[in-house]
Amino acid sequence: MLFPLLALASLSLVFALDTSSHCGQWDTIDTGIQYSILLDQWGASGASSGVSCASITSVSGSSVAWVNNWTWTGGTGVKSFTNVQLNDGINQQLSAISSMPTTWTWSQTTTGTIVADVAYDMFTSTSSGGSAANEIMIWMANINAGPISASYGSDGQPVPVASSISIAGNTWNLYQGSNGANNVFSFLPTSGQITSFSGDIMDFYDYLVSNEGLSSSQYLTTAQAGTEATSGTAVLTTTSFSLAINTGSSSGGATSSTSSTITATTSSSASGATQSKYGQCGGQGWTGPTACASGSTCTASNEYYSQCT
Ligand SMILES: *[C@@H]1O[C@H](CO)[C@@H](O)[C@H](O)[C@H]1NC(C)=O
Repeated sequence: MLFPLLALASLSLVFALDTSSHCGQWDTIDTGIQYSILLDQWGASGASSGVSCASITSVSGSSVAWVNNWTWTGGTGVKSFTNVQLNDGINQQLSAISSMPTTWTWSQTTTGTIVADVAYDMFTSTSSGGSAANEIMIWMANINAGPISASYGSDGQPVPVASSISIAGNTWNLYQGSNGANNVFSFLPTSGQITSFSGDIMDFYDYLVSNEGLSSSQYLTTAQAGTEATSGTAVLTTTSFSLAINTGSSSGGATSSTSSTITATTSSSASGATQSKYGQCGGQGWTGPTACASGSTCTASNEYYSQCT
């Protein structure tokens, strides 16, 4: 009897929150609770210079606070999607999820003109842990960027597939297009920025299932939130973020363990295994090895696929 108790007691003392700044292309920072911070600088090779860095500020209950400071010059595409990723409760069918309560309070300071969004970014698949079929984005801010869209008006602006939808206390335009590999749905606020968001992510999925033909048998494989940074210099400060996946008839707040002293068992894939040449080493939702065998380096082909070349 004594041994397990001691083991538990020592476990709770083991986790020390890492508040240092991380700037590595594929760094993962463990929050100690159900999230990881992913640096995910998948498009860095498209920049002439720059980097994205992140550090955790605090963890409290099921909420995490972090800072992401980035600067990018050159290129036209997204350089980084530094984000918080939910590790618990994913890989379930939409039909099995009863609610996904979330809160996100953030602010951003910019130097000069930037091109970026601040957004939730999620993927669904036909199978648990399978490759992405749909990307669903919920933007909190659009700063000189724009959604992926299949249709543009004569004014050059993307044309929404649905306008002025009321969900989670805000009004949205919905855009649809392709990222080259997946169907993409993007909800953008009709005006301004949502710097303090609180709602149920499932309301967005329910809308897509009811109105846009999204199948509720799809599995939610990835749930992340952060900033897609294209160019400029900014500091994105999240003072509070929470997200949980509830199943069955339970509803309301987060159901995750409230014991924040126990080390999260979700392992970052960043250490240990090595990928062989020509194998995948990164991309959104990738949880395999990110280190390449000697003689090859990990190069991003696009947001969804990086290869040891
Ligand atoms: C971000 O902030 C950290 C800590 O102050 C610093 O070491 C790092 O160079 C900064 N990175 C950028 C891109 O500004």
